[in-house]
Amino acid sequence: MQISINPAGLQGWTGAMLIVGLFEQNLEKQLIDLDPLFEGSLTKCLQQQNFTAKAGKVVSFQLLNGNPDQLVLVGLGNQQEFNLNGLRKAAALGARAVAGRSGVVGIHLPWGLFNTEEAAIAVGEATRLSLFKDLRFKNNPEKLENLDRLDLIGLENLNEASLQKIDPICQGVELARQLVGAPPNELTPKALAEIALLIAKENDLKAKVLEREDCQEIGMGAYLAVSQGSDLDPKFIHLTYVPQGEVKRRLAIVGKGLTFDSGGYNLKVGAAQIDMMKFDMGGSAAVLGAAKAISEIRPNDIEVHFIVAACENMVNGSAVHPGDIVKASNGTTIEINNTDAEGRLTLADALVYSCGLKPDAIVDLATLTGACVIALGDEIAGLWSNSDQLANDLKKAADAAGEGLWRMPMRNSYKDGLKSMLADIKNTGPRQGGSITAALFLKEFVDASIQWAHIDIAGTVWSEKERGIDPAGATGYGVRTLVNWIINQ
Ligand code: BES
Ligand code: MN
Ligand code: ZN
Repeated sequence: MQISINPAGLQGWTGAMLIVGLFEQNLEKQLIDLDPLFEGSLTKCLQQQNFTAKAGKVVSFQLLNGNPDQLVLVGLGNQQEFNLNGLRKAAALGARAVAGRSGVVGIHLPWGLFNTEEAAIAVGEATRLSLFKDLRFKNNPEKLENLDRLDLIGLENLNEASLQKIDPICQGVELARQLVGAPPNELTPKALAEIALLIAKENDLKAKVLEREDCQEIGMGAYLAVSQGSDLDPKFIHLTYVPQGEVKRRLAIVGKGLTFDSGGYNLKVGAAQIDMMKFDMGGSAAVLGAAKAISEIRPNDIEVHFIVAACENMVNGSAVHPGDIVKASNGTTIEINNTDAEGRLTLADALVYSCGLKPDAIVDLATLTGACVIALGDEIAGLWSNSDQLANDLKKAADAAGEGLWRMPMRNSYKDGLKSMLADIKNTGPRQGGSITAALFLKEFVDASIQWAHIDIAGTVWSEKERGIDPAGATGYGVRTLVNWIINQ
């Protein structure tokens, strides 16, 4: 999808399909500019259809022999409540209304209320990402519905170079959605590692994959314990982006990469939705999506490490017993009182490894706890951090990306819930505050001198229904927040 700017405004624009956003207030006045395009009949048509520009309402008109020949009006609701997310939603609704047709699409929105660059990027991303469809596994796929060309009508004073990051960021989100959507028989730890190597090769990242023996050698007993009940080998993935010139800051981002989580001997039963647990590699998808975007954007001054301890949590004769005690690579002994709290075991060794790289900051993303879904639902991820500055930076990056994120407390006394009679720590605390004890568990594996944040994306990785710019299914959550955070260091 090519994006262009058309500062001249509605009167000077020609194209096949026109999308216009309208506020509830002064609706008739807003139509004055449009009416001439339709020989004065528009106001009457809208009255017939009872269109009042309520947020989320869309009407579409086919205009025989017209230029444009389709007009889509999108309600923007109350101007006082309108924000960048409203702009994204309006773009998504408009795009879905014209999808599947070829020709130039023009979109006219209240750009003037926003920072021009932020508005253009938000609408560019929303348009493209709302049309994403995963047709890889269909024999007779419907047609893909990408737009050929999108004109941002009436957008003034924009440096077009700022539009250049839209494509790499969307590619990253699309990759993440495909990874999360892929079934666990296809997207195995090996397949994930191969995809990572391909990203690295395409865009010049350093790459390394540690095999089981390599991980044994550095004592990754927590991670390997999770993988030992699977017939598939674990793959520990480490990609590095090295900028040209001097490195001023070094970052590590770590993603939970369970290509399937059966729960292990604490098997997922009842309402636990075992069939959804292919999405338990959503953290790694965000990390690899960000790696793809960053490897194309190639920001200066920052080195970024992308780390995934990939494996499956399965059940066989060698699987972990509930009650096993294992040793992580920092020497900490862990009593595995619940084999379904496996993500934190893999992350423990991945975090120790990341600290060994001596980065300035570490961010991990993980579909870690059902408790986080209960707390925040499926539109907001939980954020825990040992650094106010890092937490604020990530919140800002998420806000700019339109991804929901909310900081959660790390109350030290809750660590008592992880006390083990025999080992240094156990992997599972009480049900209450389950996402907080999970974060406190991870903190045990991070050097206190390094800024660290943990993002629990258990709710946001997947959407049951089409919502905003997300399709039903994998959302690709995290890529846009990570990329914003990295490039704004
Ligand atoms: N992958 C799950 C977390 C999860 C649950 C993600 C539901 C999305 C939806 C994780 O490995 C898990 O099983 N966590 C347990 C932890 C518990 C045993 C302490 C959970 O949340 O139930
Ligand atoms: Mn689990
Ligand atoms: Zn899991």
